[in-house]
Parts: sequence; structure tokens; C-alpha cells
Amino acid sequence: MASQILLLTTLLAITCSLVVAFEPSPLQDFYVANATSLVLRVNGLPCLESKLATAEHFFFSGLHIPRNTSNPVGGKVTPVNVAQIPGLNTLGISLARIDYAPMGVIQPHTHPRATEILTVLKGKLSVGFVTSSPENKLISKVLKKGDVFVFPVGLDHHQQNLGSETAIALSSLSSQNPEVYIISN
Ligand SMILES: *[C@@H]1O[C@H](CO)[C@@H](O)[C@H](O)[C@H]1NC(C)=O
Ligand SMILES: *[C@@H]1O[C@H](CO)[C@@H](O)[C@H](O)[C@H]1NC(C)=O
Repeated sequence: MASQILLLTTLLAITCSLVVAFEPSPLQDFYVANATSLVLRVNGLPCLESKLATAEHFFFSGLHIPRNTSNPVGGKVTPVNVAQIPGLNTLGISLARIDYAPMGVIQPHTHPRATEILTVLKGKLSVGFVTSSPENKLISKVLKKGDVFVFPVGLDHHQQNLGSETAIALSSLSSQNPEVYIISN
């Protein structure tokens, strides 16, 4: 009995010290991604030595430019994630511009690593997501310019332009690399 109590106490002590040691926040200001650098890798891509970082590592230009939506679904996503801005490495955030042709869609898909918060900049969108089983409930809404909607991490979601003109949205995502799984066209 005494040895069992000792074992339990020891296990508890180990567990508690692990919990205390866990640090979820970044422990440096940034870790600029650099594929050719072998200096350091921290929960993401290989990193540049921080003294070599410049403004260009934290910069992207051209998100105001309308994108070509002449494709079978009539929707075009322009991602701005760690692939475009290496300074996003380890920071847990990214964004995307989305262009929609009249009646164009972004077909049902999920982001396994990110919650998405979408802002309509122009037009009228029908948006929605499906909750996980057993409910599998569709939660949807029609959005107009200035409206904001959230797609919780991992859930199947979609958008459709209901207007007769092009629509534009800006999405923020809680991962440097949200990843996309298309569920259906
Ligand atoms: C990546 O790192 C290498 C070696 O440190 C450096 O020469 C190169 O300019 C870096 N690339 C970028 C895009 O910063
Ligand atoms: C848009 O994309 C389509 C299909 O790829 C192409 O035929 C068309 O020329 C493009 N339009 C512009 C303005 O780039």
C-alpha cells in the first residue's frame, strides 16, 4: 500500500511539473522562415537568424488586385500565409482574399488547423458550416458588405455569391498554414 501511494505521489509530481513547464506562447519575437537556413527549426519551418530579418520578411503586396474567377466554381482564393510571408512562421495567423464571380462559390472544404473569420468587403454572400455528428446541422446566414462570420476549426464550410456582380471577402485564419481539404465540388 505504502509503495502504491509513493508511486501515485511520484506520478502526480511528474505530471504537475510537466504542466508547469509547458509554454504555449512564442519564446522569441519571431522565427522568419527560410528554407535554405539550417540554423534553427521551431514548430514550423527552418528559420533565419533573427539578426538577418528585414521588413521584406514581414510584407506582402497586391491584395487589392481583383483575381481571375474564370474557373468551374467561379471562386478564387488568394492566400497570404507563411508561404507568402515567411515572418508568419510560428505566429499562428494568416489571411486570404476571396473573389467570387456572380453566383460563384467556394465549395465545401475544411481547414484542419484553423478557425476562420470572414469579412465581406463587397457583395452579398450565403455562407455556412456543418456541425460534427451526430447533429450534422447546417448553420448558415446571408451576409452583406461589412458583415463578419466565423467558421470553427475543422468544420465543413462554404460560401456562395448571391449577387449579379462580383463579390470580395477577406478571411483571417488562426494558423500560419491552415491547409485545405476540398470536400466536394
Ligand atoms: C535565407 O538564408 C540564407 C542564409 O542565411 C540567406 O543567404 C538568404 O538570403 C535567406 N533568404 C531570404 C529570402 O531571406
Ligand atoms: C482568366 O482565366 C481564364 C481561364 O484560365 C483565361 O482564359 C482568361 O484569359 C483569364 N482572364 C484574365 C483577364 O487574365
